[in-house]
Amino acid sequence: MCGIVGYVGQQEAKDLLLEGLKKLEYRGYDSAGIAILNGDIHLFKSPGNIASLESTLPSTIEGKCGIAHTRWATHGAPNQTNAHPHVSNSGNMTMVHNGIIENYQELKKELRDKGYSFKSDTYSEVLLNLIEFEYNQNGQDAADAIRKATSRVKGTYAIGLLIKGESDKIYAIRCGSPLIIAKAQEGFYMASDLNAFSTTTDEVFFPEDHDLIILNAQEGIRTINEKGNEIRMISETFQAATNSTGKNGFEDYMLKEIFEQEETVPLAMVYSGKNNKIQFPHITAIEEQLKSINRIIIIGCGTSWHAGLIGNYLFEKYARIPSTTEYASEFRYRQPVIGKGDLVIALSQSGETADTLAATRLAKRAGATTLVICNVPRSTLTRETDAHILLNAGPEIGVASTKAFTSQVAILTQLAFYISDLRNIEHPEISGILKNLAGLSIFINKILGKKNQIKELAEKYSFAQNFLFIGRGINYPTALEGALKLKEISYIHAEGYPGAEMKHGPIALIDSNFPTVAIATDEENRLKMISNIHEIQARGGNVIVLIRQGDDKLASMADDYIEIPATNDEAMPILSIIPLQMFSYYMAKFKGCNVDQPRNLAKSVTVE
Ligand code: G6P
Repeated sequence: MCGIVGYVGQQEAKDLLLEGLKKLEYRGYDSAGIAILNGDIHLFKSPGNIASLESTLPSTIEGKCGIAHTRWATHGAPNQTNAHPHVSNSGNMTMVHNGIIENYQELKKELRDKGYSFKSDTYSEVLLNLIEFEYNQNGQDAADAIRKATSRVKGTYAIGLLIKGESDKIYAIRCGSPLIIAKAQEGFYMASDLNAFSTTTDEVFFPEDHDLIILNAQEGIRTINEKGNEIRMISETFQAATNSTGKNGFEDYMLKEIFEQEETVPLAMVYSGKNNKIQFPHITAIEEQLKSINRIIIIGCGTSWHAGLIGNYLFEKYARIPSTTEYASEFRYRQPVIGKGDLVIALSQSGETADTLAATRLAKRAGATTLVICNVPRSTLTRETDAHILLNAGPEIGVASTKAFTSQVAILTQLAFYISDLRNIEHPEISGILKNLAGLSIFINKILGKKNQIKELAEKYSFAQNFLFIGRGINYPTALEGALKLKEISYIHAEGYPGAEMKHGPIALIDSNFPTVAIATDEENRLKMISNIHEIQARGGNVIVLIRQGDDKLASMADDYIEIPATNDEAMPILSIIPLQMFSYYMAKFKGCNVDQPRNLAKSVTVE
């Protein structure tokens, strides 16, 4: 979590850093800070988001070198003292950090015994003072001190550090946490992701773990590797995101991203109706393995995990390959039995989620074929896996994932069909499903047109403190995702359940104040969903039912219903989640919540 950015060059640093910070705000927004070096260290920190920090800054702070941070608290309350940058005991060094220092307690004790004191509760301040200690021990050789201090750290870090008197230099190093270096027309940047860089950036560099980087306004970029040797990093060209990162007239990013699905689902289609073929541009390297793999393990977190569950249905039904979806955080710690012959698919919008990354690395080391389905080109996961598939959905800024989910499902569906074809499995219905998927934007448009109906429904049910979401088969994950959306942004308790499992517990909760959302849009499970709806209503519960268009029987049973255009069951999770995203959005709005920056959450969870 946390976004870090640093700049050194010919221009004043403050505005460039603020600009970068704003683009990193999705990583955390509970406090923020900025340090500018200009002979002295000028430090500004504030609890709250970047707008709060900005409002406390003087209009000009002179200095062409600086570091900045937006925080998602992992350790220590989100307040001004714990906000970064931190300053060392002597006042001569300041540092921003993203990551987790696991052995901070022993390091802190050691430093306390040497006379160091600490202002904040953060482990970042411990690392900074350890660097300062090594600096004073080692003839003030900053590079050596940073390498010595970080070699003692257990955990993950990406840091940017400034030293008083070295007004044209930033020191940076990483281990486990993302760090990217950029060369732009106005100078050099370091940041936790590509988004932070200015549009004049022409080259970017991806340091390896433990590479120490020194950015110098005059001398450029120096890199010293773990062994202490000076090396040259290979540069890559940079393309600023062409997709608009503004709100395009929408009130919030989330609403904008919900509406964008009309375009982003088609952008996830690699199927061409002309030659009736699915062509993934970046998976040729693993095509042979795909023909013979005997198991698929999908790993992910949050919304991506839900998309993975839909993948299981499709891979088993169409490619006839056993498929499971696992929480990356559980998978990585349970000594999984994996190896050659397994395909591990990492699902991640950002490509940076710490647990997904660690689980994928583990799978790769064990000999599995790794593939990531990701929205961010050149993210860590796309760089480290054997092959990747991009969602092409454009930047997703709203913390609650919306358009990434529908694109992930569209990709997984095509991938299942693609593998089925590679293995010569006959499924004559596939080309019809693909044609329908390719034309889904018309249906999505129809659903988006129900905005006012869904808003009214949200108002009607805004009294509820609890919700149950149920679905079966391919729409069970849709129920999980619908419940997650409601929890994330409106802070209403919601549970997703398979329809049948409801009788094994949740039905005890049902009363007239505990509504249920039942997803009954797939033909396969319709009759069984009808039984579940009866069971809830018999206990006084209200049921909002998502029905296939024209399903009069279900419409007449439901307390309220939303019609979804009738199409193949395989497309139903994509269509059914959209009204549930909108429902959560309006519930949150009625409660006055900040939908783009829900409390305690961050878009990209880069610590485990
Ligand atoms: C966070 C976000 C979720 C997202 C999850 C996984 O929890 O708030 O919206 O689904 O991380 O992120 P990823 O980038 O790996 O898909």
